[in-house]
Amino acid sequence: MSHIKWAMLIATMMVSMTAHAAEVLRIEIPPEIQSQVRMLGCDACHGWTRTKFGPAWQDVADRYRGQTSYAYKGFNIDSEGEKLPLVAGLVKKISKGGKGEWNEYIPMAPNDPQGIHAKEITNIVNFILSIPPKK
Ligand code: HEC
Repeated sequence: MSHIKWAMLIATMMVSMTAHAAEVLRIEIPPEIQSQVRMLGCDACHGWTRTKFGPAWQDVADRYRGQTSYAYKGFNIDSEGEKLPLVAGLVKKISKGGKGEWNEYIPMAPNDPQGIHAKEITNIVNFILSIPPKK
C-alpha cells in the first residue's frame, strides 16, 4: 500500500473514532431505540451529543428537564402555541414539524404527518427525556 493510502486510512480511522467518542451518553442507548431512529431517518439531522441541523438530543434532555408541559407552535412561531403535556407536545412537534425553538432559520420538516409512527416517536421522546445530565 502506498504512503498516501495509509495516510488516508489512518485519517479515516481517526475521524470515525472521534465521531464515536463524541456520541457518549451517560446512559446506554437501547438497540430498539437506535434502530427506530435509523428507520425514521432522525439521525440525518440529530446526534446524541453533537449538534447537526437539529439540536443534540443531550441538549434537548437538558432543556426540558423537570418540565411537564410544552407549547406546540408548529411553523407559526409568533403564536402562543397549543399547550400539551411535554411528551405529547414533543411527539407532535416531531410528527407535524415546526421551527423557532432552537434556531430561527432551520425548521424541522414533518416526520410523520399521518401519525403512523406515533408509537416509535413516543418511545424515542421518552428515551431522550431520560438522558441524564452531562458529567
Ligand atoms: C431534516 C432534518 C431533521 C430530521 C430528519 C429530524 N429532525 Fe428533529 N429537529 C430538526 C431541527 C432543525 C430542529 C429544531 C427545530 C426548532 O428550532 O424548533 C429539530 C428539533 C427536534 C427536537 C426538539 C423539539 C423542540 O421543540 O424543542 C426533537 C426532540 C427532535 N427534533 C427529534 C427528532 C426525531 C425523533 C426525529 C425522527 C423521527 C427527527 N427529529 C427528525 C431537524 C430534523
